[in-house]
Amino acid sequence: MKLRYCCAGAAAAFATAALFSQAPPSAPATSLPWAFPFDPNAPKQAPPPDDKELRHVPNSSKAFTQKQITDGFNPPDWHQDFGPSTPQLVAHGRPQDIRACGFCHLPNGQGRPENASLAGLPAAYIVAQVSDYRSGLRKSSEPNMGPPANMLKLAQASNDEEVTTAAEYFSKLKYKLWIKVVESKTAPKYRIATGMLVAIEGTSEPLGQRIVETAQNIEATENRDDASPFVAYVPVGSIKKGEALVTTGGNGKTLRCSICHGTDLKGLGNVPFLAGRSPSYLVRQLYDIKSGNRHGAWSPLMKEAVAKLTTDDMIDIAAYISSRMP
Ligand code: HEC
Ligand code: HEC
Repeated sequence: MKLRYCCAGAAAAFATAALFSQAPPSAPATSLPWAFPFDPNAPKQAPPPDDKELRHVPNSSKAFTQKQITDGFNPPDWHQDFGPSTPQLVAHGRPQDIRACGFCHLPNGQGRPENASLAGLPAAYIVAQVSDYRSGLRKSSEPNMGPPANMLKLAQASNDEEVTTAAEYFSKLKYKLWIKVVESKTAPKYRIATGMLVAIEGTSEPLGQRIVETAQNIEATENRDDASPFVAYVPVGSIKKGEALVTTGGNGKTLRCSICHGTDLKGLGNVPFLAGRSPSYLVRQLYDIKSGNRHGAWSPLMKEAVAKLTTDDMIDIAAYISSRMP
């Protein structure tokens, strides 16, 4: 009898501890809500209206309904980036468990701030990263952020062989500079839509030590136009400070990035290029690598580069790198 009480109590205490050790979904796991955005009060995504109204984007003669635009297994190809040789996984994914890579990363591989650009990355690097997501070696520091959680899930459903075909497709594309990096004391206020910052028109607030990256034409971006550019507001003076860290290593604070990421950060062997890529993505990765949430086979090479970086250093570095020509 005594024993039973003892053990039931212990089990209850254990269960309570387990409950508390798991952060409730509303508590952010990082102190960088602009880099790892999620909205705890976001309503569960309603299915898109099947309103037959045709949407358009600049410089495309095509037209799609909202339902077609949000079809993860048949994403809109506004500018005919897909051709007959585009792998099935990129254009359509696999029914039920793998949405098309081109849905999130866009048909031309430019990606969006809440995911990653894949255009021009080495195929072996892409395969290695998806494998790291699959095996749990790479995950986001913010488990509440929807898009990385989705990437994890689909990686688990994939295998290296099929990912290789997608990787070869993206590696052959050329990444284009499409993010305007602007040093500014202010930035628009924003709302969060599935991991992306959406500027509220006509508003402004002090930027402080943040990067606010947002679509230049939100309507086109919401329509998944893969040619509609972004703007990133970065702190005044950050680009120059970032340049010093990246090119000199900042007196032993970090390593010169070009040693591994190549001249002008254009990539070297299987080490990814960085120049011109999304600053929010770059900050997330520096943070994830430093925190150990990203610890794949190749991550140890980054260990010394990130060990002493503060959040402000990461902001400066990302501001500089994003402003470079890819
Ligand atoms: C539901 C949206 C979504 C789909 C579909 C998707 N991804 Fe991703 N992917 C993401 C997000 C979000 C990230 C960034 C995760 C993070 O922060 O680590 C990402 C990151 C990646 C990266 C890391 C890039 C880098 O520079 O390290 C690779 C590689 C990748 N995805 C490959 C793929 C492939 C291949 C497919 C198709 C089989 C695919 N993804 C489908 C959302 C998606
Ligand atoms: C000693 C080699 C080395 C140096 C020096 C180095 N890196 Fe890296 N970096 C890597 C490797 C290898 C990876 C891939 C890591 C992985 O697979 O997890 C990487 C990945 C990254 C990523 C993630 C890219 C992506 O597509 O997800 C970022 C961002 C990055 N490095 C930034 C930097 C910056 C900034 C510096 C300089 C301050 C730097 N690195 C210096 C080797 C290096």
